[in-house]
Parts: sequence; structure tokens; C-alpha cells
Amino acid sequence: ALLFATPLAAEDYPSRNITILVPAAAGGPSDTVARLLGEAMSKDLGQQVMIENAGGAGGSLGAGQVAKADPDGYTLLLYHIGVATFSSLYPDLPYDPSEFTSVGLVTEVPMTLVGRKDLPASDIGGLLTWLRGEGKGASFGTAGVGAVSDLCGRLLVDTTGVELNVVPYKGTGPAMNDLLGGQIDLMCDQTTNTANQIASGSIKPFAVTTQKRIALLPELPTLSESGANVDISAWHAVWAPKGTPEPIRQKLSASLQKALTDPALIERFAALGTEPVAAKLATPEAMDMHFQAEIERWSGLLKTD
Ligand code: MLT
Repeated sequence: ALLFATPLAAEDYPSRNITILVPAAAGGPSDTVARLLGEAMSKDLGQQVMIENAGGAGGSLGAGQVAKADPDGYTLLLYHIGVATFSSLYPDLPYDPSEFTSVGLVTEVPMTLVGRKDLPASDIGGLLTWLRGEGKGASFGTAGVGAVSDLCGRLLVDTTGVELNVVPYKGTGPAMNDLLGGQIDLMCDQTTNTANQIASGSIKPFAVTTQKRIALLPELPTLSESGANVDISAWHAVWAPKGTPEPIRQKLSASLQKALTDPALIERFAALGTEPVAAKLATPEAMDMHFQAEIERWSGLLKTD
């Protein structure tokens, strides 16, 4: 009787749990975005959206896992701007950005330059002075090459000439634990990971990395106000493996767009210094354009000699 059954994979989708892989440690900024998004998308899709963490090498390892996964809509990638840099930063990357297909953009998270609580500087000017003297070669926690924390560090070094000793982790979640414990001096990390720690006074904020000050931390100057011409934020997006059936991709994008209007999600995002992108940016087409432009922009910025 099953002989004539047609494959209803796309029509029935999703008929089981969906996994969103986050290529960074649990408890960090991308994980936080993924969990809030997964919760909201689960409501709409009628299936559990599970988050799996696979940190390492700036997120390039986990991203590769998704590029090579079955293109059936059950394995997706949630990550950020870093994905647009991997082919520039890793000459032997075993996959290509064209092995992904876009679902949609999610959010653009501002970043903050933060230090351990007892660091001997109280503002960005003092920090730069310290880094040029006694603090030369200060330890700077990142989530590895191509992580947005690492990209921010590169821009900071390029524009100010300070020397940093980069300490890579599998995500800025674990790096934050070491900053809280005073084992490292500095980080440039997304507000989704720093907002609560700044509010409780357990780390020192020095500057935001966006062109303009942010609503959540209006007192905090921008790096560009302080003469360091850094402008970076962490746009996040959802990728699927190339070959994912179009009806499934459209269903996921529609669900993403709906999730981004969820009042609970918007409220949690706001408390962490961010907001969802406009619905028209949560589409495959808008994300494609943005992703391609970012790959090109970073290949220019990261050109090695
Ligand atoms: C994380 O979730 O750990 C971050 O997104 C890592 C980073 O890119 O800095």
C-alpha cells in the first residue's frame, strides 16, 4: 500500500524536532539569541527547536558541521558576522560559504569593550593610556579567530596600535567567567553577554563599538568618540545547508519573521541591548544580499600580506 506514497517531506515539515546548532559555547551571546529564537519558533512550528552548542575555532568548526548536514530543514545554523569572515581567515577551511542557503537575518547586537572589575582605568581614555604603558600586552579574551569578539579586537589593534595578548575560548560565555574571576583583563563582547554583568557592576564597561551610543547604556561613550575608529556589531542570521527544499526554507523564514514579532522575545532582546531586525530583513533574499556584501567587505578588511 505504501508503494504509491509520495514523499510528503516538505508538506509535512516539520514532523520532528529541529536542531539549531550554535558554533559557540552554551551560556554565551549567540547561545542566548538562539535560545530565545528557538523558544519563539517552537510555538509557531509546533515542534521543539533544540539548541546544540559546538564551539571551537571562532565558530568555523560548527558552521562546517551544518554546511555538511543533510539539507532537510532539521539542522540549521544560528551564528553571526563571523561566518562571512571564515573563508578569509582560514585558508584551509574545508567548506565554502556557497554551501549554505539563507533563511533570514535575526538581530544586530551592539558590542562593548569591557574589563575586569579591578582594572586600573576608569574610562576609555584611561584604558588606552594604560594599554600604552603598564598594561601593554594585556590579556584579551575572545571566542577564537573569526569570532566577533576577535574581529573587534583586530579593529581595536588596527586603529589604536595597542598590543593585546589574545586568549581564545570556545565562546565568550567561558571567557566571561574568566573576566569575572580576573584571570583575563579585557573583552570586546556583545551586549547579550555583558548587559547583566555591567548592570551588576561585576565588570567595567569602557565603550560601545557602534557608531552611536545605545539606549540600554546611554552613558557609555562610543569607541569612535574616543578617537578609535571602530564600528562593529554582531548581526546574527539563520543558515541552512544548501539544497534545503524551497518550501521548507520559506516555511522557516516565515516562522522566523513571526518569532521576531513575539512580544516576549522583543522584551528579552531589549533588556540585553538589542532588537529584532525588521521583517523584510528576515527573508532569504535580504540575508543573501547582506551575507555576500559582508563576505566581500571582510575579505578586503582582513587581507593578509
Ligand atoms: C559566543 O556566542 O560565544 C559569541 O558569539 C562568540 C563571539 O563571536 O565572540
